Amino acid sequence: YKSIAVLTSGGDAPGMNPAIRGVVRTALHHGIKVYGVQRGYSGLINGDIHVLSSKGVSNIVQKGGTFLKSARCSEFHQATIRANAASQLRKLGIEALIVIGGDGSLTGAHLFEEETGLPVIGIPGTIDNDIFGTDDTIGFDTAVNTALNAIDKIRDTADSHERYFLVEVMGRSSGFLAVHVGIAAGAEMIAVPEFAVDVEAISLQLATSKRKGLGSSGIIVVAEGNAPGLTNRIAEQMAHHGHTPYVSILGHIQRGGHPSGHDRVLASCLGAKAVEYLLAGYSDMMVGVNQGQVVDVPLDNLTRYRKGLDPELLKIALQLHK
Ligand code: F6P
Repeated sequence: YKSIAVLTSGGDAPGMNPAIRGVVRTALHHGIKVYGVQRGYSGLINGDIHVLSSKGVSNIVQKGGTFLKSARCSEFHQATIRANAASQLRKLGIEALIVIGGDGSLTGAHLFEEETGLPVIGIPGTIDNDIFGTDDTIGFDTAVNTALNAIDKIRDTADSHERYFLVEVMGRSSGFLAVHVGIAAGAEMIAVPEFAVDVEAISLQLATSKRKGLGSSGIIVVAEGNAPGLTNRIAEQMAHHGHTPYVSILGHIQRGGHPSGHDRVLASCLGAKAVEYLLAGYSDMMVGVNQGQVVDVPLDNLTRYRKGLDPELLKIALQLHK
């Protein structure tokens, strides 16, 4: 390859910047010219594509968000638009594309490769950690820690006022973020979409704990991907059992901030590996992590399989409740 491009797509995740830097510096090391595409697939469609230099990616390893900007681009769902996007790359002599993003963005990357023949490598970047074929995604560790930081503070008030707080965390339709945050925060309960939530049982159990003097305050972590209105239904049930729970929705705070050390290293390694896999002739694959090793995952698998929550982890979480 003489010339490649990189873009970030979908929800931003802390660590996207070090991933871009990893791609750019590894490519330059191998004598390959690198272009940065602005605003994900939108920039690809509009030809908003510019050369990146080594200096251009200086001083970004520690920054949250993505300096290339990101977007959710519904137009890219159309095959004709994807064909136009490929011609924007070809016009500039760009021979391959590296996409940093979540499930939807990498599915788009797979279709793009299949239809246009332009080699594509994906890098998993999302706070949700819901991508099939990889144990970890860029941004997940930072988001877990950001949520913990907030919950540790909420717990001070929960303790002082002997209240329960229902804390809703992100994660789209999966409970990865919720389970990790819940275990690390010492949550009294965790509600995730992967397992049926018995609202009545939750409130009864908390009422029993209160009666037994096991505590009248605590944190219940609820994944946003649960059935609509679940958080409020739990709150109402708890009120019937003598609690006055508060609801706190953490929201986009979980997407921002400096990437953690873990995410910086992960992003740098995956960025570098993405370029190396391209040079080794791979395409239509994602660089993932399996038991601490970087592995190649066919992008097609992302469209066919859904990553499952580890039931062992949830079991442990439940055992650690009061
Ligand atoms: O995929 C990351 C994520 O933050 C999800 O956890 C959340 O459901 C979604 O993006 C929110 O997206 P947006 O910021 O586009 O509303």
